[in-house]
Amino acid sequence: MEQVKIQIPKTYQPLLTKHYRYKFFHGGRAGGKSWAMADALLLLARSKKMFIACVREVQNSIKDSVYKLLKDRAEFYGFNDYVFFDDRIENIITKSRFVFKGLGEHNAQNIKSLEGVDICWCEEAQTITTGSLQILLPTIRKPNSEIWFSMNRKEVSDPAYKMIASNPDDDTLVVKVNYYNNPFCPEEIKKMAEKSKRDNYDEYLHIWEGEPMQQGDYKLISAKSVREAMVQKISESNSPLVIGLDIARAGNDKTVFCFRKGRLVIKFHVVRGYDTVQVADLLTSFIKDYKPSKVFLDLGNSGAGVYDILNARGFAKIVKGINFGGKAIQNDRYKNKRAEMWNSIKNWLEQELPVQLPDDDELLEELSGVERVRVAQDQLQLEDKEEFKKRIGRSPDKADALALTFAEPVYETNNAKLYGAGYTAIEDMFSDNKGSSSEW
Ligand SMILES: Nc1ncnc2c1ncn2[C@@H]1O[C@H](COP(=O)(O)OP(=O)(O)O)[C@@H](O)[C@H]1O
Ligand SMILES: [Mg+2]
Repeated sequence: MEQVKIQIPKTYQPLLTKHYRYKFFHGGRAGGKSWAMADALLLLARSKKMFIACVREVQNSIKDSVYKLLKDRAEFYGFNDYVFFDDRIENIITKSRFVFKGLGEHNAQNIKSLEGVDICWCEEAQTITTGSLQILLPTIRKPNSEIWFSMNRKEVSDPAYKMIASNPDDDTLVVKVNYYNNPFCPEEIKKMAEKSKRDNYDEYLHIWEGEPMQQGDYKLISAKSVREAMVQKISESNSPLVIGLDIARAGNDKTVFCFRKGRLVIKFHVVRGYDTVQVADLLTSFIKDYKPSKVFLDLGNSGAGVYDILNARGFAKIVKGINFGGKAIQNDRYKNKRAEMWNSIKNWLEQELPVQLPDDDELLEELSGVERVRVAQDQLQLEDKEEFKKRIGRSPDKADALALTFAEPVYETNNAKLYGAGYTAIEDMFSDNKGSSSEW
C-alpha cells in the first residue's frame, strides 16, 4: 500500500497508538474531534480487517451520520481502496467494514447486531441515553474492542459523560479539546469563537469551551453580570478608596492590588516575583500616592510579613490583615471570610445601580469560574483554590484582590485622614508628597 501522510493533531494520537477500552474526547465546537476520529478509523481499517460501527442516538437517515465525513476524508487522502455503498463503507483490500446505526428507541435489535465490532464510535455522545448505553456497552464485547466517544457536554449529568468520563479508570482515556487546541482550526471559526466570547460568555463557554450548560447552579457569579460591569462607564465616584491586596502564594502566582471606590473598580495592579519587602514598599507608595481609606490584605503566606512591615511603619489604622479561612462576620451564612467576601462581589454586581469593572478577560474568567461547594447546611462555601487552579490553570488572584476590598464596610468620615505612628496627616509624613498622583 502506498504511503500517505495523515494529519492528525497530536492530542488525538492515542486513537492510533494506544489501546483503551474507552477513548473519550469532549470539548467545544471545532476541536477537531470528528475529523480526527474519521481519519484515525480510515487509517486503522486499511491496516487490517476491522468491523467499525459509527453510532449516534438518533439516525433517521445515513445523512445524519458520519458517513459523508468519512467519504470526504477518504477522498481527500485519495484512498481508492474504499467502496461507498448506500448504507456502509468497505475496504476492498482489508475487507474492513463500516456500518452506521441509530441507538435510540426501538433499536435494541439494531444494537445487538453490533456484536463483533472492533471499534464503536459514538458521535454526538451527549445525546446518548442511559438506556442506549446499557444495551450498547455489553454488546461491544470482542476482546480488545474499543468504544470511542466524541461529544460537547450538554448538561452536568449527560449519561455518557457520567458513566464513562467522570471517574475514569486505567482503561479509560478522557481528553478535553477545544478549538484552540486544534492546529487545523480555520481562522474564520476562531473569529466566530472570539466574537461569541465577547457577545455572550455563558453561551461561549458551552459552545466553544465545552462546558455543560446547567451551570447556574454551582457557579457563584454569573458571567453575564460580570460582562455588564465591564462595559459600564462610570467616570467618577465619591466613595472612599479601598485597596484589596492578594499576595502571591507560590513563585509564579501574581501579587495583585485592586483599587475600588464604591461602584467603580479603578484598576488592578499586578506584580510577579516580589518578595515581602518589595510588596510592602509598593503598598507604602500606593498609600502615599492615593490615600486609600482602607487597605485589606491577605494574611496568608508572606502576607503576615507585609502586614508587620506596614504596621511598623505606622499604618495600622488603615491596613487590616484578612484571613481568607477565618470567621465570616455572618458566620452562620458563610463558611469562611473568603466566601463572605465573594458573595459581596456577587451582591455588588447584581445591585440595581450600575457598577464598573475593567474590561479584563482573566478577571471575567476568575469571577465567573469560581464554584460553590454543596454543603448540607444553608451555608455558602466556595471550592478550594486548588480545585480552581486544577480547572483553570492558575489561581483567581485578581478576583481575590477584588474580594478583599469587600472585607469590611468602609465609611468615609469627615475627619482628616491620619496615618502614621503619631497619627500625623499623610501629607506630613512624606516630604516629597508633591509627586502624588491625582489621576483619579
Ligand atoms: N486533520 C485536519 N486537517 C485539516 N483540517 C482539520 C483537521 N481536523 C480538523 N480540521 C478543521 O477543523 C474543523 C473542526 O473540526 P471538527 O472535527 O469538525 O471539530 P469537532 O468535531 O470537535 O467540532 C474542521 O471543519 C476543519 O476545518
Ligand atoms: Mg464534531
